[in-house]
Amino acid sequence: MTLAIDVRGLSKIYGGRAVVDAIDLQVERGRIYGFLGPNGSGKTTTIRMLCGLLTPDAGEGQCLGLDFRKEAAAIKRQVGYMTQKFGLYEDLSIRENLDFIARLFELPQRRAAVDQALERLGLQSRAKQLAGSLSGGWKQRLALAACLLHSPRLLLLDEPTAGVDPKARREFWDEIHALADEGITVLVSTHYMDEAERCHELVYIAYGKILARGTEAQIIADSRLQVWSLQGDKLGPHLAALKAAPGVLSVAAFGNTVHVAGQDEALLQQALVPLLSQLPGLRCERAAANLEDVFISLIASAKDNFGGEA
Ligand SMILES: Nc1ncnc2c1ncn2[C@@H]1O[C@H](COP(=O)(O)OP(=O)(O)OP(=O)(O)O)[C@@H](O)[C@H]1O
Ligand SMILES: [Mg+2]
Repeated sequence: MTLAIDVRGLSKIYGGRAVVDAIDLQVERGRIYGFLGPNGSGKTTTIRMLCGLLTPDAGEGQCLGLDFRKEAAAIKRQVGYMTQKFGLYEDLSIRENLDFIARLFELPQRRAAVDQALERLGLQSRAKQLAGSLSGGWKQRLALAACLLHSPRLLLLDEPTAGVDPKARREFWDEIHALADEGITVLVSTHYMDEAERCHELVYIAYGKILARGTEAQIIADSRLQVWSLQGDKLGPHLAALKAAPGVLSVAAFGNTVHVAGQDEALLQQALVPLLSQLPGLRCERAAANLEDVFISLIASAKDNFGGEA
């Protein structure tokens, strides 16, 4: 197995608090890894340490076969990093932005590289448009074009599709898969469950610690989560009490059904008993856990273990 990222004990401390807390991260070459976790869990901090923009307080290992602490400059030349916030010049056109980046990387065939990036992301027709006047989806496309210019082997994408509509997100993900098919490794952070499902592997972080990893199916199986699906009228007023019941880790509405999840089957059933007597028409049946059930439950358990707020 060849690893594009292989780091152990990676840590970053801010104000005496480990916001990334001794994590081990292994990412196989040519695969798409989804990096998930609540706000403030340490995703951006981890990504910035991996690409050499932030110095870790502890940790060792390799990125693209290079020592990620000692050879940060060499790593940067082979990594495409897409920041969480749009980082290009709004008052430059698409082409001017790409040309500027190509100069920064001192690319020998600058014009050809820019043309190729424009074509790859379908940006030619808008090449002269100012970046600041683009919609969210086109901005993300430009940002991806910019981080592909220097032909990186590893892409670190930090919430690349936040606020982008479903069609543009789908096109973006088609492109990510095309890049992976060409052998490029991708670590991509996201809060969207449909995007998590499009990754080969997932890593879930909270409070700076990795709480789950593996394929979607592995993570769901490892969670040992039991889920009951409820269907009925007037459920709303009862949900707060249900959430507070012992053994209930997550309560979430999916359309017309409510998922109630926990690991302890007996406690879970005990929590549902009062509801069944109060709402006689309630339909209550077992359901398969989905990723969202698992992640919400993981945060609930982590809160008990680590305390604090995510
Ligand atoms: N430069 C800094 N100084 C102090 N604290 C910081 C700094 N950068 C990040 N933090 C803190 O570190 C924690 C992790 O932040 P980080 O941005 O890595 O989270 P994240 O998982 O990317 O969150 P989000 O999903 O909101 O983007 C947060 O509590 C944040 O406030
Ligand atoms: Mg972030």
